[in-house]
Order: sequence, then C-alpha cells, then structure tokens
Amino acid sequence: MRRLFCPYFLVGFMSTFPTVRLRRLRKTEALRSLMRETHVSMNDLIYPIFVEEGIDAPAPIATMPGVVRIPEKHLGDEIKAMYADGIKAVMMFGVSHNKDETGSDSWKKEGLLSRMLKRAKDAAPDMVVISDTCFCEYTSHGHCGVVDGGHVHNDHTIANLAKQSVNAAKAGADMIAPSAMMDGQIAAIRAGLDESGFTDTPIMAYSTKFASSLYGPFRAAAGCELKGDRKAYQMDPANGREAIRESLQDEAEGADILMVKPGLAYLDVLADIRQSSLLPLAVYQVSGEYAMIKFAAAAGAIDEKRAVRETLGSFKRAGADLILTYFARDIAREGF
Ligand code: PBG
Ligand code: ZN
Repeated sequence: MRRLFCPYFLVGFMSTFPTVRLRRLRKTEALRSLMRETHVSMNDLIYPIFVEEGIDAPAPIATMPGVVRIPEKHLGDEIKAMYADGIKAVMMFGVSHNKDETGSDSWKKEGLLSRMLKRAKDAAPDMVVISDTCFCEYTSHGHCGVVDGGHVHNDHTIANLAKQSVNAAKAGADMIAPSAMMDGQIAAIRAGLDESGFTDTPIMAYSTKFASSLYGPFRAAAGCELKGDRKAYQMDPANGREAIRESLQDEAEGADILMVKPGLAYLDVLADIRQSSLLPLAVYQVSGEYAMIKFAAAAGAIDEKRAVRETLGSFKRAGADLILTYFARDIAREGF
C-alpha cells in the first residue's frame, strides 16, 4: 500500500509502451547521428601492408581483391600516397626472398625488415610505422619460430624475437607488434628493447591470436604457407577464459596495447577483455574477413560499404580502440 503514496510509482507506469516509443529517436538521420553511441574514424585505423623484395611491379593477391604486394622499390612513393590519403598508421609485413631455418634475415641490419621500415619512415616521418614481429614470413618452413624436433621451440624463438625487435627499432619502427604467440615473448622483447636504449618504443601484443580458418588469404599474400598448422602455439577458437589469461599475462610482461584476432567471430572475447584490462585494445579484421565481404559484395549478395561500416562499428561497440583492417585505404579515399 505504501507504494501508492510514493510519486515514483508513476515511473513503473510510464516506462512502458505506449508512453515509451524508442522509434522517436530514430526518425531522421540527424536524430540518429545524435544518438549514435560509437564512431569509427581514420584516427582508429591501422592499414596492414605487404612489401616484397626483388619484384618490379605490384603483385595482386587473388584472394584479396584490391590488395597487392608492394615492390620494395615503390614503397617510399606508396607510403607518401597513403599518408596523403589520410592513413595514419601502417602494419608492415615483409615478403622475403631470403628465407632460412630461423628467419635470420629479419634481424639483419641489411635485411628486408630493416630496409622496409627505414624506407617507410623516411618517406613519411609522421606515419606511425608498426613492425609485425614474427618469423613465418622469413622461415623456409613457414612456422613462426625455430623448429626443433617437430615443434616450434619457445625459448629459442623468444630470444630471436628480441633480436628482431631491436633491429626493427633501430630501423625506426614506432611500435613493435609481436604475433608469434610464444610464451614470454613480451617480457623478452621489452628487455631486449630496454637494454638497447629503446625504452620508449611501445609493444602492441597480439595477445589473443586464435588458430583461425580466416588467415588463408594472408598466407598467400605474405608467401608463408606452411605444412601443418599453428595449433600448438595459437589459441583454440573454442576458448574465452584463456584469452583473458593471455591478455593479463601480456599486460604483466609489459605490453602497452592488447589485441584480439580475428575480429567478427570473437566479439565476446573483445568485450570480456575490455572488462578485464585498462590497456588500449586493438582488433584485427583479418584477411578472411576481408575476403568474405569483398567476394559477397562482388557477387551482389551484400553492400560492401554498409558491411564495412557495420563490422567496424561492431568492434567499437564491443570495446576496441584500434582496428587493423585492409579496408583502411578505401575508407581513407572514399569515406564510409
Ligand atoms: C603471422 C601472421 C598471420 C596473420 C598476421 N600475422 C597469419 C598466421 O598466423 O598464420 C594473419 C593476418 C590476416 O589473416 O590478415 N604471424
Ligand atoms: Zn608468424
């Protein structure tokens, strides 16, 4: 009975239909844009690019329409053009012609990784140049580290990752992004960078990287197809709690930014990590996700621009701050 005398009893009555009509705020585009909770802009985007040594012309990737391997000799001009288009950050992958068992070209001063980072920084000093830090692009077997007795040897690999990171930092990389999924790789890289005086070079950890079916087009693009799979180091796609453990480990080892990869199939993981850490969070919309949208749009099944807007928007809604996407160049040129 007491409830009757409380003026707030009205709230219960008023907060349902027909008093409440959520469509009121959806009437016009002007209203909808005022109500919009998340936004994506060029400030959020990182563009992954492939740079190949020893070729004269851009090499298209059949399974990634619109993406090419950039010849090393064109890289300077290409980076300038990207920066002029509005790209603010690139993630660089080398396509090596000098592969060996350990991927040693990647820690040599005269190797492709070092040369391409230098060339990119020289061409556009204000571009944020991020070095993907792994070995699969530089090893003859295609695994992400040193193979020993049929397995990728964790501790030898993290020592090499530290060497590659220092080489990248010396070449001018603004950020190191280790993607090998080795235990202790963040600590090893942080120590290596700090000992060499690169205390201010941040690490963006591919902290939650799943052994996904969606990397196929990338492996063709980066020339790193492998026999077998990466299930003994990348995460099982079925696991969510483990992703939080990986993230908290990398945070404890000194990561500056965490990442979830791929994106769309793992929005729950992204949202959970957002709740578990205060670090900036990145998400990688991978090659297979790009291919799915491109080919479905080419077949007339979906509208490409709307699908891009919607998927990138979902990453923001789930808690991502940064988005790596092969659509970044199109968005820079044509808007959303
Ligand atoms: C390799 C690496 C991969 C991607 C980024 N770094 C592939 C893999 O793990 O096999 C995938 C990116 C994409 O599919 O777009 N360390
Ligand atoms: Zn790798």
